Amino acid sequence: MGEVEVLALDNVDFSARAGEFDVILGPSGSGKSIFLNLVDGLDIPTSGEAWFLDHRLASVSESALTRYRREHVGVRLSVL
Ligand SMILES: Nc1ncnc2c1ncn2[C@@H]1O[C@H](COP(=O)(O)OP(=O)(O)OP(=O)(O)O)[C@@H](O)[C@H]1O
Ligand SMILES: [Mg+2]
Repeated sequence: MGEVEVLALDNVDFSARAGEFDVILGPSGSGKSIFLNLVDGLDIPTSGEAWFLDHRLASVSESALTRYRREHVGVRLSVL
């Protein structure tokens, strides 16, 4: 962020089973939105690995991410 380096996600390990309902909680600025953006295929990590099943979500082309979103990602927002 400008001159300041932000470590938004550091060594996060998360797995979920199909059909599972998961809630991600954390204080403001803890990286929830960035995490979801990676899972949703909207952003790619600066370094490291991100996978969905056998789909690599880091270091892939924009067209591969678009295909991943089309085939695997649904986003629903609930305002509580
Ligand atoms: N585009 C960006 N460039 C650099 N740093 C960013 C960017 N977006 C977010 N950050 C930083 O990454 C960290 C995590 O931000 P993120 O938005 O994922 O937090 P959050 O948990 O969703 O917070 P909130 O509950 O307020 O929505 C914060 O320090 C934030 O300032
Ligand atoms: Mg957020």
